[in-house]
Amino acid sequence: MMKVAIDGPAGAGKSTIARAAASRLGYVYIDTGAMYRAVALFAVRRGISTKNDVAGVIGVLPEISITIRHVDGVQRIFLGGEDVSEAIRMPEISVAASEVAVIPEVRQKLVQLQRQLSETADVIMDGRDIGTYVLPDAEVKIFLTADVTVRAERRYKELCEKGTETTLDEVLRDMQYRDANDSGRAFAPLRQAEDAVAVDTTLLTAEESIDHVIAVIRGACNVV
Ligand code: CDP
Repeated sequence: MMKVAIDGPAGAGKSTIARAAASRLGYVYIDTGAMYRAVALFAVRRGISTKNDVAGVIGVLPEISITIRHVDGVQRIFLGGEDVSEAIRMPEISVAASEVAVIPEVRQKLVQLQRQLSETADVIMDGRDIGTYVLPDAEVKIFLTADVTVRAERRYKELCEKGTETTLDEVLRDMQYRDANDSGRAFAPLRQAEDAVAVDTTLLTAEESIDHVIAVIRGACNVV
């Protein structure tokens, strides 16, 4: 099975690029951020403070059942039996996801699921620690970056298109908070793997980024 790991901070273009590349190459796209978001959604709905109540989050972990299904190539994520693919995209869940993601017990549970999924098909998996921790033997590793202001503008535009009420300032603040959480945590932090190819998308359009990443994957995997 082929494994492609795409890591980087929020708004660098991971999911757009990974989804398009998977569809063109016939790989299965696995969005690991959605899993951290699902844990966060569960905790928030239970009224558990994801920032302060680590024991509370760990306590409900056994009750959390996450399943991933692909419908027409699109990943849907289920919490229990409920499709939460849209609910997990709320800005407050982004922040809560980066808070539950510092908890090693949460990561261990989700990494187990991620590794299982990588054994069932050729995959493109995106996240923060895929190349460094989840799939260290991935055939291709890509580290996507972009300036934080550009990343915030992209995410702001995305949220506006979905009708989510927010401001550019708020999106930028959330992103800086998450970047600090993700890069600063002790267990499997966000960092570039030594054998990863770095791609800076600051000045690239989505189409250009997709073409560039597909060329890197093709070069490394010998796929047409
Ligand atoms: O789409 P976006 O980049 O905004 O975020 P995401 O990929 O859905 O991830 C949400 C949060 O989950 C991140 O801020 C990380 O804290 C966490 N995460 C992680 O720790 N490890 C991963 N492999 C994926 C996500």
